[in-house]
Amino acid sequence: MATYLITGIAGFIGSALARAVLAQGDQVRGVDNLSTGKRSNLAEIQHRIDFREADLLDLEPVRVACQGADYVLHQAAIPSVPRSVADPLTSNRANLDATVNVLMAAREAKVKRVVYAASSSAYGETPTLPKYEAMPPDPISPYAVAKLASEYYMVSFYRCYGLETVCLRYFNIFGPRQDPASPYSGVLAKFITQMLKGEPPIIFGDGTQSRDFTYVDNAVAANLLACTAPAGQVAGRVFNVATGVRTDLNETFRLLKQLTGYTGNVRYEAERAGDVKHSLADLSRAARHLGYKPMVNFEEGLRRTIAWYKSEVGTSLPR
Ligand code: UD1
Repeated sequence: MATYLITGIAGFIGSALARAVLAQGDQVRGVDNLSTGKRSNLAEIQHRIDFREADLLDLEPVRVACQGADYVLHQAAIPSVPRSVADPLTSNRANLDATVNVLMAAREAKVKRVVYAASSSAYGETPTLPKYEAMPPDPISPYAVAKLASEYYMVSFYRCYGLETVCLRYFNIFGPRQDPASPYSGVLAKFITQMLKGEPPIIFGDGTQSRDFTYVDNAVAANLLACTAPAGQVAGRVFNVATGVRTDLNETFRLLKQLTGYTGNVRYEAERAGDVKHSLADLSRAARHLGYKPMVNFEEGLRRTIAWYKSEVGTSLPR
């Protein structure tokens, strides 16, 4: 039985990973400072996991948490491009300094492998579509810079110390438990909950921007593959994790209207600073070396996510 340390375990991706690791019969340890994650995301599994409330910026608890861990799945972050534009210092601490602490502790504890939640935002405004890993990155926002710098640290710890690290560049992950309540929440969590409440969502810009929206179960599968794939194929490398299909926001709104039954309109407001126009992943490297293939497509992911938020109406949906 292996022990997985999940940072950011109370977030929607971390908590989905925890459920998947438990389901395969392994042990889960988790760290979260509950800044964006929520205890309620762990409700029915809390008695089966070793949860530690701690901030990754404090090295000591991270060191202790890494002791005896086989794998570290480093998901903790302060997401959101606009939040980082408003407060680059906090973004840098949470998204970069914390990563270096995790790497220091993982190396000292001799964990087998560290898998990192990197971001498609690293590609920035590079005109080529789809984005492939060998392209020179071109980050726009402070968030993208911190995520990319963390990637470089991951690769550096492999090159300098032989610590096996794998970076997964997530493309707009969505799904159950994603927090819809913050002004910085991901667009799908916001749109779905707003439309379920009969409120008009807001599109920033003209809605022609597109994303390779990726259902969370695909990211979970990629993490588990990244732990077990042969080191010679994956260690010190970066992989896209996405579905390989992009949808623009106007089309996304139309699709959500059908799926939620919302009959109102959408509002348009000014484009967001730091926004990327188009995002689409090339998945050939992930397929070849990780054995990754998207299992849940965008529409099915939306159905499952809508069903989950519907089940939450009247309990935790924000007003
Ligand atoms: C970016 C990254 C993504 C990462 C995320 C973390 C890219 C291409 N993607 O996501 O991999 O996981 O940061 O936060 O860089 N929007 C609206 N109305 C809203 C909210 C958002 O129109 O109410 C628009 C945004 O302006 C943007 C799109 O929806 O064009 C997606 O926004 P969001 O969900 O915040 O994610 P990204 O910034 O694309």
